[in-house]
Amino acid sequence: MIDKLSWNGEGKALDIGTGSGACAVKVAKKFQNSKVTGIDTWGKAWSYSIKVCEKNATTEGVGEQTNFQKASAADLPFDDGEFDAVVSNFVFHEVRDAKDKRDVVREALRVVEKGGAFSFQDLFLSEKIYGEIEDLLKTIRDWGIEEVHFTNTADLVNIPRLLRVPGMLGEIGIIYGKK
Ligand SMILES: C[S@@+](CC[C@H](N)C(=O)[O-])C[C@H]1O[C@@H](n2cnc3c(N)ncnc32)[C@H](O)[C@@H]1O
Repeated sequence: MIDKLSWNGEGKALDIGTGSGACAVKVAKKFQNSKVTGIDTWGKAWSYSIKVCEKNATTEGVGEQTNFQKASAADLPFDDGEFDAVVSNFVFHEVRDAKDKRDVVREALRVVEKGGAFSFQDLFLSEKIYGEIEDLLKTIRDWGIEEVHFTNTADLVNIPRLLRVPGMLGEIGIIYGKK
């Protein structure tokens, strides 16, 4: 997902639903001039917390480059276009405070600066959640997003057959591009 982020690494990045901070840390390590914010609700369903994120970032040597705060993906506490790059890994389908998960995608794109980069991995091939993928991509383009691409994750990595079923990793893909 981070490999698909077409960014020079200058400026600010956001990781939505950062969990244990894994993606935020990876982005910070890959783009050493960047400042990376990770947000999450850190609910009961996962054993992650802001402290875990801070500890992981420090252990990985990017404590100074990163910061973490509690917030929901459904209503990001940031201005339009505040970030040069935005990533999110396997989060949007979980966001309970948004009935229509397309709204979560739109909210993530709202905080990307015009010309900025984004890369989101989620269950985008689940028609139950997002509708038909071509329609989803068209809708995103209709929101005024310049460059929108899609890759089926199964074409990039070897997902074990047992996990390649609907509702699991069989429906996972990456939507990426530039705003
Ligand atoms: C499958 S984990 C992925 C964590 C991380 N992105 C990763 O790749 O390791 C899903 C994460 O989404 C978070 N999450 C669920 N609902 C959320 C919401 N409304 N806003 C932000 N994060 C949320 C959970 O707390 C959890 O950390």
